[in-house]
Amino acid sequence: MDYRSLADRYGTPLYIYDFDYMASQYNALKGAFEGKKSLIAFALKANSNLSVIAHFAALGAGADCVSFGEIKRALIAGVPKYKIIFSGVGKRDDEILGALKEDILFINVESEAELMRVEAIAKELGKPARISIRINPEIDAKTHPYISTGLREHKFGVDQESAKKLYIHAKNSPFLEPIGAHFHIGSQLTELEPIKQAAQKVAELVRSLVALEIDLKFFDVGGGIGVVYKNEKTIDLKEYASAIFGAIKDLDLTIVCEIGRFLVANAGRFLTKVLYEKDTGKKRFVVVDGAMNDLIRPALYNAYHAVEAIGCEGETSLCDIVGPICESSDFFAKNVALPPTKHNDLLLVNTAGAYGFVLSSNYNTRRRSAEIAIQNGVDRLIRERETYEDIFASELKLLETTR
Ligand code: LLP
Repeated sequence: MDYRSLADRYGTPLYIYDFDYMASQYNALKGAFEGKKSLIAFALKANSNLSVIAHFAALGAGADCVSFGEIKRALIAGVPKYKIIFSGVGKRDDEILGALKEDILFINVESEAELMRVEAIAKELGKPARISIRINPEIDAKTHPYISTGLREHKFGVDQESAKKLYIHAKNSPFLEPIGAHFHIGSQLTELEPIKQAAQKVAELVRSLVALEIDLKFFDVGGGIGVVYKNEKTIDLKEYASAIFGAIKDLDLTIVCEIGRFLVANAGRFLTKVLYEKDTGKKRFVVVDGAMNDLIRPALYNAYHAVEAIGCEGETSLCDIVGPICESSDFFAKNVALPPTKHNDLLLVNTAGAYGFVLSSNYNTRRRSAEIAIQNGVDRLIRERETYEDIFASELKLLETTR
C-alpha cells in the first residue's frame, strides 16, 4: 500500500478501510452458519459510514441499529427494512414511532416500561409492533468492564422470569407480536464458554414459551466476537456456530447475529502524520496530527493499538505517541519502540475500523477526518474531511442573537 500517496491525495489524519477484508469477514461468519437460517445484522455503531453499510448490504447483511439516526442510515444505504432491527436500552417515543412506521423487522425491548411504551405507540398507530425481548442471562462475559453487559448489575435486558411475564403480556396484547429472543453479553469476547451458556439459558426460556403457545421465530445472539489487537486469543467461528446450533437444535429459529467489531476492526487503519518529536529528558514523545478526538479508544479504555512508522529506519527507542489535544489522555500508544521520526513521516494505527471514526468528535474544534475505501486495489473517498464551515454552521446563524 502506498500510504504516502494516500496521505498526499486525501490528507491526514485519515481512516482507511479495506472493503475486501470486510467482505471476507462477512462471508466467513455467514459461512459458519451454513445449514441454518441466519441474518448477519451489521451493528452500525461500530462503523456507520454509509458506504460501509451499503457494502455489507450488497453482501446480504442486515443492520442492527441503536437510534433512529442509525435506522435512517441503514435505509439510505439500501438495507431492506425487513433486515433492520432496533436495539438499545433507551428509546425515545419518536424513535419507536419512526421504527414502527418504517415497518422494520423487530424492536429489541429491554425493560417492562419500554414494552409498555412500544405497546402504547403501536396502539396509537393502529398496527402491532413486532418485538423481541433482551434477556439478561446473568453470565460474566470476562471482557473489559465497560463493554461487559450480561450481569444483573448491568443496565441491559431483563431477567428470565420477568421476560417470561413480558412475553405472556405481549402474546395477549393486540398491539404486540413477540417474535424473537435476544441476548448480548458483551463486546470483544475472547472466550466461547460464556456465549454458549447464554445461548443455552435463552434457548431454555424459548422452549418454556413454546409450551405457552408463544412461538418465536428469531434467536438473536447479539454480537461481541473479539478480534486481535495485540495477541488476544480468538473464538473459532465453526465452534461458535455449533455452540449456538447445539443450544437451539430442537427449535425452528432464524439466528440473528448483531455483529460489529468482528466485521470491521481489522479492516480499518488510521493514518497520521508526525508533527515533531519532543524529548523532555525523561521521556520521548512523538507528536502527531491525529488525536483522541479522532480515535478515543486508548484514552477511554486504555486500549492497545499497534502503531507502525512507515519507511522510518534506525535504532528504535521507547516513546509515547501523542496528539495535540490539551489532555494527558490524548495518546495512541505508550512506551512503544519506534525508530527516529521526523516532520511529515507517517504513522499507521492498526485495528481502527471499529469504534474509531464513529466515536470521533470536534473537541478542540478539530475537523473530523476523511474516510476512504480500498476495494480491488482501488481507493476512493467515502467521507470528505469536515470543513470549518460544517463545524460552525449550526451556531453561526444564531450568533446574531447574542451579539
Ligand atoms: N449488540 C448490542 C446490543 C451491543 O450493545 C453491541 C455493542 C453489539 C451488538 C455489537 O458488538 P460487537 O460485535 O461490535 O462487539 N466502544 C467500545 C465497544 C462498545 C460496544 C457496545 N455494544 C469499544 O471501542 O471497544
